[in-house]
Amino acid sequence: MIKDIITKSIEEVKQIQASTAEDIEKIRIRYLGKKGLMNDLFAQFKEVPNEHRKEIGILLNELKGTIQSKLEELKDKTTAVSDNNKPQEDLTKPANLLSLGSIHPLTAVRKEIIDIFSRLGFTVEEGPEIEDDWHVFSALNFPQEHPARDMQDTFFIETNKENNVLLRTHTSSVQVRTMEKQKPPIRMIAPGRVFRNEAISARAHCMFHQVEGLYIDKNISFADLKQTLLYFVKEMFGSDTQIRLRPSYFPFTEPSAEMDISCTICKGTGCNICKGTGWLEILGCGMVDPNVLEASGIDSNVYSGFAFGMGIERIAMLKYDVKDLRQYFENDIRFLNQFSSAL
Ligand code: PHE
Repeated sequence: MIKDIITKSIEEVKQIQASTAEDIEKIRIRYLGKKGLMNDLFAQFKEVPNEHRKEIGILLNELKGTIQSKLEELKDKTTAVSDNNKPQEDLTKPANLLSLGSIHPLTAVRKEIIDIFSRLGFTVEEGPEIEDDWHVFSALNFPQEHPARDMQDTFFIETNKENNVLLRTHTSSVQVRTMEKQKPPIRMIAPGRVFRNEAISARAHCMFHQVEGLYIDKNISFADLKQTLLYFVKEMFGSDTQIRLRPSYFPFTEPSAEMDISCTICKGTGCNICKGTGWLEILGCGMVDPNVLEASGIDSNVYSGFAFGMGIERIAMLKYDVKDLRQYFENDIRFLNQFSSAL
């Protein structure tokens, strides 16, 4: 009896036709499901007397195999059919755009600063980030033990009596290196990375970028400094930008000044950004101290010059209205992508 059911079922399964996934699933359930034929037959198989067990067992396995290969065959056919029905790729479709990344705002601003000063004949100079005491402090008229050295919290790498090794705290060290190797006239800028031992916040970082400027020649006066910087800010922030110089102190310049520009947001009427003053501080500058010229072997009776130094982060913050300095270094794509057309 069970033998008849099995052999009939084998024939029946071989004849099955189905073309949709749902129909195939129905067939699977009918034969292989929990309450399906196979389970039913296996239950009956327990009752089969010993002498027939072998023969029935073989037939049962044959039936199971037939069902499984039938299901495979039906599935293959339906996928083949659906593959054929798939619409062909549209070969006229525009290609997917490759995302190319964007220029970092600090790179964009650095390039713009270099472009502006090269129009005035300034060359670009470089110096090492790991410096010695001489180039960062002593040659720039910071006397030993002078409190002016505390103006910049320094990361020291090696301290010894002759010459400390340290991470440069400003790009003014490149002034010294350039004066040591070139004879005046010198007209150079030095963009670069500087390091200070400061707590990281929205307004300060232990690593940032500066651009140094130096102009040495005969008869260079404060008027040249002022005009050069005025040209720079008008190019950088727009022709209606005004400047204001406030007396300040740096060991390497005399007289020294800090320069403000009229607020880029409110144009001088007073707002949150300029804290109601109408002015924003952007750089330090002054006439190169004769001691600095002499320390690098330039005759201060013949030559004079001016120098200035500015933070690239600060300029970029004002230009792009960036509120938190840390964003420059977090590499958040959502921040960086906003500058894709910065150049
Ligand atoms: N080196 C100064 C600083 O880091 C900036 C400066 C450069 C001031 C050149 C005057 C002249 O603050």
